Amino acid sequence: MEHKIVLIPGDGIGPEIVGEAKKVLDRVCEKSGHTFLYEEVLLGGASIDVHGVPLTDEAVAVARSADAVLMGSIGGNTATSPWYKLEPSKRPEAGLLRIRKELNLFANLRPAYLYSQLKDACPLRPDIIGDGFDMLIMRELTGGLYFGERRTYEQDGLRTAMDTLVYNEEEIRRIAVKGFEIAKKRRNKVTSVDKANVLDSSRLWRKVVEEVAVHYPDVELEHMLVDNCAMQLVRDPGQFDVILTENMFGDILSDEASMVTGSIGMLSSASLNETKFGLYEPSHGSAPDIAGQDKANPIATILSAAMMLRYSLDLDGEADAVEQAVQRVLEQGYRTVDIMSEGCTCVGTREMGELISKAI
Ligand code: IPM
Ligand code: MG
Repeated sequence: MEHKIVLIPGDGIGPEIVGEAKKVLDRVCEKSGHTFLYEEVLLGGASIDVHGVPLTDEAVAVARSADAVLMGSIGGNTATSPWYKLEPSKRPEAGLLRIRKELNLFANLRPAYLYSQLKDACPLRPDIIGDGFDMLIMRELTGGLYFGERRTYEQDGLRTAMDTLVYNEEEIRRIAVKGFEIAKKRRNKVTSVDKANVLDSSRLWRKVVEEVAVHYPDVELEHMLVDNCAMQLVRDPGQFDVILTENMFGDILSDEASMVTGSIGMLSSASLNETKFGLYEPSHGSAPDIAGQDKANPIATILSAAMMLRYSLDLDGEADAVEQAVQRVLEQGYRTVDIMSEGCTCVGTREMGELISKAI
């Protein structure tokens, strides 16, 4: 079968890691007889340099016409890159937020799983790691502080800035449904994370999540305040199955969850709408400090490609094969520098990509 995939290499290490994920996808085609038709579009700084804006209407249209989008990472060094002298709506991140919103990608799935081979890279003590952990952060992606009204102004002679956090019940309901649905396929537990002791938006969140929970009697629901959740993630990560939360809390907690898996270079993600379409990207950033040095870990992007095979292209067997190939290469002791530990073999971005492709 033919599938149309849009690739967005982006900035920093983006082109290198997407290149390796494409190698893996080419190998999947070779083995399975499927055909992937690729088209590349620019996003972020790469688009600013060519078009003067972080995302063009044409790029959105091309992405929309595909079965799925595979992205690397966007953005530069916020202190030194000329992109950050531009007004906020013209910076690289604005392009990413716009494509999420335009394609209605409200559900962001970020699995955080501790590979037994990577226990040594995990910064937590062995007694905390226990039997390991396997959680999924279901982050709302098109609402909240990221998309509320914001402005910077002067009031009473003082520089003042404002961001607003708005959610309506429909936005909460649809992400909650996604959270419960995925929990049913996992270990039947949802931890809904909010700040209901302070925020109105969180109190509504809690109410709507409870209304949705009624339809999932087999799924256990617990509520947790976000500050407590940040603590519990390093105190006892094994307690979590699905963490359901709003946009900003999900952004912060997913970085924390990824670090306890050993490296942010391992964490994949899928951003989905109500259809099969999705945008797949690693949860990490563009790491401009190591760009072009063959040092970046391509595994999060390769695992994102596996999620794409599973969720958007219905190629479950092929997705399993990619995930198993990653496991096998880790078992053989190959590591990129971010997950390196004693006795292992340190390899670069390209070699890691090749090893995984060959292991399929
Ligand atoms: C992420 C990133 C983005 C976000 C940035 C680059 C805008 O941190 O995907 O987690 O905050 O959503
Ligand atoms: Mg983030």
